[in-house]
Amino acid sequence: CGIMGFTGERPAAPELLAGLERLEYRGYDSAGLAVTSSAGLQIRRVVGRVEALARLLEQDPVAGAAGIGHTRWATHGRASVENAHPQTDCDGTLAVVHNGIIENQEELRAGLEDRGHRFRSQTDTEVVAHLLEEEADAPPMEALQKVLQQVRGSYALAVIWGRRPGLIVAARHRSPLWVGQDQEAAWLASDVQPLLGGARELYPLDEDELALLTPGKAQIVTRDGEPVERQPDKSPPEVAAAGKGEFAHFMLKEIHEAPRAVARTLEGHVDWSRGRVAEGLLLPGGQRRGLRRLWLAGMGTAYHACLLGAWWVEQIAGIPARAVLASDFRDDPPREGEGERGLLVAVSQSGETADTLEAARAAQARGIPVYALCNVPGSTLARLADRVLMTRAGTEVAVAATKSYVAQMVGLLLLALALAEGEEGRVRRSQVLDGLASSVEAVSRSLALEPAMADLSRRLVRERAVYLVGRGPDHAATLEAALKLKEVAYLHAEAMAAAELKHGSLALIEEGTALLALSGRAHLAARLASNLREAASRGADVFVWTHLDGAPFQAARRTYRLPDPGHELLAPLVQAPPLQLLAYYVGLGRGTEIDRPRNLAKSVTVE
Ligand code: G6P
Repeated sequence: CGIMGFTGERPAAPELLAGLERLEYRGYDSAGLAVTSSAGLQIRRVVGRVEALARLLEQDPVAGAAGIGHTRWATHGRASVENAHPQTDCDGTLAVVHNGIIENQEELRAGLEDRGHRFRSQTDTEVVAHLLEEEADAPPMEALQKVLQQVRGSYALAVIWGRRPGLIVAARHRSPLWVGQDQEAAWLASDVQPLLGGARELYPLDEDELALLTPGKAQIVTRDGEPVERQPDKSPPEVAAAGKGEFAHFMLKEIHEAPRAVARTLEGHVDWSRGRVAEGLLLPGGQRRGLRRLWLAGMGTAYHACLLGAWWVEQIAGIPARAVLASDFRDDPPREGEGERGLLVAVSQSGETADTLEAARAAQARGIPVYALCNVPGSTLARLADRVLMTRAGTEVAVAATKSYVAQMVGLLLLALALAEGEEGRVRRSQVLDGLASSVEAVSRSLALEPAMADLSRRLVRERAVYLVGRGPDHAATLEAALKLKEVAYLHAEAMAAAELKHGSLALIEEGTALLALSGRAHLAARLASNLREAASRGADVFVWTHLDGAPFQAARRTYRLPDPGHELLAPLVQAPPLQLLAYYVGLGRGTEIDRPRNLAKSVTVE
């Protein structure tokens, strides 16, 4: 979910709408805003996108120079107008927007109901509104402080009161919040993006801080109400995404931006003349030499990058490394002593994924340093990590990660190279670096498969399910390809290790079942070919992607030739774009909402 707030001397609604549009990547089930003026509180909410809210406001405008807005990704209660934010108390005297989850909401709600409060929504947020109503006699900041003492969970909250036009009170706990100000106005938002270009001075709130916004002043205070003096944030503003240009969708545009993402992520990180990664990328003293083990954690696409990253760290640097879902790392963090001389590599495009942030915090709490790979400067992960390697894929608008995944792979390769030591490591390192030197071109050439992928999409568009197989890292790459087919084409796609097929899933193969396979390693091609033959002889229609010459895939109906990745370890880089294109075209054929698939959000800020 995304939160926005504005107070100034001009109408608040346009400011809120513009900000919410830039926050929509956090969810787009429903949207709403509340504005105050001397006429009191006015609230508008819709199911659907921010543009639907804008249309509603054209028909039914609001007037007021202060307000809060929200774009929602449903957690408690389905997407409906009643469950949309802002939420209010019984008499509609105040309005609340909230990101996060109030964990003790049931108990609080029961108590409030006993005391006569009537609820209109299933949201946990409405509980906060009613609790605030009970503190009506206290000044706003005090009222919020009292309520927060009763609440458990995570939140970024903003509140306005009908009787106090111009004033917004906000708080954060385990969910990011930024404030900004210039001479006339003050803003708040759940990330820095919507504030860039507007507010002149930007400040992130630290854990458990509150803020009081009035026109021209965003005052941060501690949990106990002590004013905090802070320097404005200096993180470089991200270049805003341009439009779709000649492309029909952002996803397609962003797939085509992969070569640039590779080039920019490499930029400044490799000393080509000396054949080594740049010094700045290495871990701060001691940490590198003594490292005993690595965990690589992320969610969704970032997790798939971690699977490859762990393989690279082991292959290139020879350090034991394990990819782990960030949520699992957070649930079962390393035991006492286990994390010694360990490192958590936290991978996240947005740097705001709640599961990944919690994994990073869990690591730090155990003395395990966090090395972050992330694509958004100034994001929460970038700020809390001990060391950051920025992937420079540029702003990614489509919900499905494409170019950022390719950039994450490059970043992880760089990290593996930076960790590589010893004679043997040095040879490998220079071979991989040679490969990386031509990777921009290789990735770019992989896009030439676009017409073939569009063609194949017509074969898959009416399938009920497809299966994808590969061995080792190719399996990791098929997991990502399957995720793309699920998210943007709504096609059931299951990836499995090729050798596992015969241990159960082969029972699913019927005449004409589509089986997609990746083959990136020469010494495994024959074994993969056997796995595919076993499936083909039971009716599977097999399609293979490989850069290998003379690979023995007679069982395949079609083999798609990928460009030479420059080094076998780099094969995943050239596998990704064609399979992203395939998912795109299957989605196009199935008429899905490609850039904003149903039920999803680009950044999931709840655990
Ligand atoms: C969401 C997105 C995915 C993304 C995942 C992790 O589920 O829809 O595309 O891979 O979050 O996001 P992050 O920003 O942490 O990489």
